[in-house]
Amino acid sequence: MKKLSFLFVFFLLIKPLWADEGMWLPFLLKQLNEADMKARGMKISAEDIYSINKSSLKDAIVSFGGFCTGEMISDQGLLLTNHHCGYGQVQTHSTVEKDYLTNGFWAMNRAEELPNAGLFVRFIVRMEDVTTQVLKDIPTQLPENERQSAINSRIAEITKKAIEGTHYEATIRPFFYGNEYYMFVTETFTDVRLVGAPPSSIGKFGGDTDNWMWTRHTGDFALFRVYAGVDGKPAPYSPLNVPYRPKHFLPISLKGVKMDDFTMVFGFPGRTTEYLPSQAVDLLINETNPHRIKIRDLKLRILDKEMKASDAVRIQYAAKYASTANSWKKWIGESKGLKKFKGLEKKKIVEAEFANWVEADPNRKVQYGSLLAEFEAVYQKQRSVNLSRIYIDEAVQGIEFMRLASRLSGFGTKPIDKNDPKIVDFRKWTKDFFKDFNFQTDQKVFAGLMKLYFENTKAENLPASLKEKHAQMKGDWDEIADSFYSQTLMSSEEAIQQILDDYSENNIDRLLHDPVFALFKEIQAYDQAKIAPVMKETNDKIDGLMRTYLRALREMQTKRKFYPDANSTLRVSFGQVKNYTPKDGVQYLHYTTLDGIMEKEDPENEDFVVPTKLKELYASKDYGQYGVKDMMPVCFTASNHTTGGNSGSPVINAEGHLIGTNFDRNWEGTMSDVMYDPDMCRNIAVDIRYTLFIIDKFAGAGHLVKEMKIVR
Ligand code: ARG
Ligand code: GLU
Repeated sequence: MKKLSFLFVFFLLIKPLWADEGMWLPFLLKQLNEADMKARGMKISAEDIYSINKSSLKDAIVSFGGFCTGEMISDQGLLLTNHHCGYGQVQTHSTVEKDYLTNGFWAMNRAEELPNAGLFVRFIVRMEDVTTQVLKDIPTQLPENERQSAINSRIAEITKKAIEGTHYEATIRPFFYGNEYYMFVTETFTDVRLVGAPPSSIGKFGGDTDNWMWTRHTGDFALFRVYAGVDGKPAPYSPLNVPYRPKHFLPISLKGVKMDDFTMVFGFPGRTTEYLPSQAVDLLINETNPHRIKIRDLKLRILDKEMKASDAVRIQYAAKYASTANSWKKWIGESKGLKKFKGLEKKKIVEAEFANWVEADPNRKVQYGSLLAEFEAVYQKQRSVNLSRIYIDEAVQGIEFMRLASRLSGFGTKPIDKNDPKIVDFRKWTKDFFKDFNFQTDQKVFAGLMKLYFENTKAENLPASLKEKHAQMKGDWDEIADSFYSQTLMSSEEAIQQILDDYSENNIDRLLHDPVFALFKEIQAYDQAKIAPVMKETNDKIDGLMRTYLRALREMQTKRKFYPDANSTLRVSFGQVKNYTPKDGVQYLHYTTLDGIMEKEDPENEDFVVPTKLKELYASKDYGQYGVKDMMPVCFTASNHTTGGNSGSPVINAEGHLIGTNFDRNWEGTMSDVMYDPDMCRNIAVDIRYTLFIIDKFAGAGHLVKEMKIVR
């Protein structure tokens, strides 16, 4: 008895080493995770989450445009995602007169729903392990590029066969750095219409100030509707299309959240790198992040000034600003977190263990003996071009004209017919580009970012034209920028369209003599000669080493359950509703309420304006069925392991019902893309009760709630 209770206490003390960490593959849940999930309180089965024989939760989940997640919440194709995921669409439909960003948008009937060119949602029909087929007879020692082309042709065969006679698509992706390959058969709908979005003062409440932070009070949600042809199959936009009937949609629970309740997040996390060696973490926190942050810091300051000075620029640059600021802030949090959590030291400890493990066995020595040294050498080499890569990607490509030039340069220097599909496509792209482009703003960005590029690039690698002007104008960057911008022929949509109308020798020649275009070409030539090849060579090498390293780690840590890094494929994370202690002496609650919105209100600060209607509802405590007595819940935190792309993902309870929409992570936990800490890493979700309250009571769109299946 004594021994038993000792054992019991012992088990309580050592918490499972990788608790809550992981983004799992839905079709492997039964085998890998179901028991853990049930132990945490899940009442449904792995088969209810993913099944190929019957409808399951996965049939309600979509990749929203390839960058976010959405979920079906009615049998009429109603889709819930984040406000920041639909932000681009809301912005596209907005003008200074009809400003849906500021005022919100609500379709009061189906006819008012707004189509969105270019937007798609993608369902997963099924997934399957195709490792054996993909890797059959491919020698392990093949050079990386030969291996890749052999694999690519295998993939082409397998996917072709998988979708024969259907309207589906199939993709095969590497997992664990190419130790495994899984196939995804998908169905893509392109008629996706905007149904509703709250005003930014709700959907983006807290703005960039609160972004990546807890406590949070953002009603970050938007509604769309998926339409299909009358046969229920995907069809391009047509007024004759009908709402899509999904195989499954999520019932919505109004029961709310308590500490330690089971939660899972089902969605499309984009990219994580949890298994990096110490050299990569070192490069990230000591070089890559600090420089990227510095460049964006400046860009954001320039844009902010321009946007404050003009309403038109504010609308044009709203989405661009938000996405620039989003990564910028994440990198700051990530670096801080990794340093505080001693990420680098932890990697080194694992590597020391690894070295011992290899040393202990002659066979391992043959297979893995040189691995750590090879990592060291290849990162050393990558380090020699890393800064240049960053300054080209972030500073040069951070200038919109440089991106335009980059697209244009893709056409090469041979004439192309104006009806060529490439040209036709590019016409559309140019139209969108100039809709949200301000010449003076970009000129200011050029002055700022080119200066940084100039200062952080070795003189011998700088474009001659830039050095010349710099000398001529004595380093006055406003003047330098003006000399480029006042002479460019890329200045307007019309000018570009004219070139596209007649992409002939004459026009190509004019383009090549354009100062902005020529500058881009010089930088590109330098990149292609000196930077890109080293990057490619080292990245290929790293891929190969990582493949071996992961295979070895999985042999070494036999008790650990490994999950593959996120790669924009469908995953399940599970955990519990959890608060956390950000620092000594402080403990947060796991939820926030409308009280906090009133506390944060600041009419002088656009991030914290509270709409009058919301204040009235607060004053009268008119919360309908969504409040808990006189309390209106707004957001909550849980321990699900999530990343970019999980935005809009449903947070689902033990019964398989929707309780929230994931939209962010906490500041102290943004390092989880590189290293997850169960005590510190939290995802942040909008409480579904707040979402419904806003739809119903604030927007008066109760007809939408009637479509949903509400569980009390
Ligand atoms: N940080 C969240 C994510 O990575 C939210 C971003 C949108 N919100 C914002 N204030 N910019 O997407
Ligand atoms: N906001 C993120 C997104 O756009 C999700 C939060 C995260 O990175 O965890 O997907």
